[in-house]
Amino acid sequence: MDPYLDLDQPARFNITCHRGLAPALEAEVRALGHEIESARETGVTIQATLRDAYRLNLCLRTAFHVLYELATFRCHDGDELYDRVRDLPWDRIVPAEGGYLTVVSKANTPSVTNTMYPSLKVKDAIVDQITSVLGIRPDSGPDADGSVVTLHWFGDEVRLYVDTSGRKLADRGYRKRPHTAPLRESLAAAIVLASGYDGTQALVNPMCGSGTLAIEAALIGSGRAPGLLRAGGFAFQHLIGYDPAVFKEIRAEVSGQSKTPGLIVVTDIDPDAIDAARHNAETAGVAQLIDFECCDFAETVVPDVDEAGGIVLVNPEYGERLSQGEEEALAETYNRFGDFLKQECPGYQAWLLTGNRHLAKKVGLRASKKQTLFNGSIECRLLRYDLYRGSKKQRKQPGAEVSEPQGAPGEAPAPQDAS
Ligand SMILES: C[S@@+](CC[C@H](N)C(=O)[O-])C[C@H]1O[C@@H](n2cnc3c(N)ncnc32)[C@H](O)[C@@H]1O
Repeated sequence: MDPYLDLDQPARFNITCHRGLAPALEAEVRALGHEIESARETGVTIQATLRDAYRLNLCLRTAFHVLYELATFRCHDGDELYDRVRDLPWDRIVPAEGGYLTVVSKANTPSVTNTMYPSLKVKDAIVDQITSVLGIRPDSGPDADGSVVTLHWFGDEVRLYVDTSGRKLADRGYRKRPHTAPLRESLAAAIVLASGYDGTQALVNPMCGSGTLAIEAALIGSGRAPGLLRAGGFAFQHLIGYDPAVFKEIRAEVSGQSKTPGLIVVTDIDPDAIDAARHNAETAGVAQLIDFECCDFAETVVPDVDEAGGIVLVNPEYGERLSQGEEEALAETYNRFGDFLKQECPGYQAWLLTGNRHLAKKVGLRASKKQTLFNGSIECRLLRYDLYRGSKKQRKQPGAEVSEPQGAPGEAPAPQDAS
């Protein structure tokens, strides 16, 4: 069978991501050698080949899906959609025997009132085309673990894609033990990338929860592509024309880029969080790069920094509708955290993600950079604090005097605006 999707034929790809992550995705895609054709809040468009898509799927940390654009056309109703989709040579794209097809759609158009309707129309058109040519009906269902076709239908404009990823790339598969309010892996990766961490700096992650920031940092610091962790493979492996030898070659090339980062220090006050973080890091194969301690963040043993500097990554709790008592307790935590940064982290740059600007002000430091990110649907700020070198306050020992820092280590003056 002559495959319809050629490995080296240039095509347009739409790479999707969570709202707010497009700048990070754009930088990643450029670093892999691609020009950006256009960018929007939830993704970028590039010209590439299916061979490139093998690598993009393995390497991208902030993406959801790498979508191969198969067709784009105007469409006004379901019958027209069925006819246009049925015109394509699906018998040369989707395996009929032993294959499994999933259709996913996003639609906002007057003729769609039932969200299942466009997916059903597309699935029927594909299955009917294949049956008419080959006399075999391919199996289909919702699991996205075989071939996946994606439809975007907005107004009268349809874009039809072959999804080369399948399951979201952001679902790395290592987080077997979630804890309180875990960050999505792609958001955690975007925070690490924003911090400039490359494995050479000291890295500290207090209030680690299930360890997502530290694990993504360990993967980035060790140059390990996230797709190498993926169980169950990618959807492009279920297309007619998939070349396992090419994929093996690209995998080998990508895995050869690994290096050893410095030790990452991770703490949380909750023993269950530390258990979850350790377990997840073991699943991701990076536990040996991380030092786990169960303690209040203020007791974190912060390594002294050399000229490479140090980075603190933190995502403290916050809430949208807090009771007065909860708000006061969290305000105290943020306030103490600001003191911790000033006293224990000179020479570091701290990156704090929070969805509550009132709490952010309690840190008592002026943010040198602010970036808007979305944790799920909650608008958050990623705040950067530059903590200047000075003499470090000595760790408090029982019965020992505590010396005050000389000069003004770690501090820019108190802020009034952390928003
Ligand atoms: C929002 S969660 C962090 C989630 C994490 N980013 C993830 O992806 O899983 C906040 C964490 O801060 C921890 N925490 C709260 N107060 C703390 C304190 N005083 N010292 C250390 N950890 C604390 C909680 O136990 C919780 O695990």
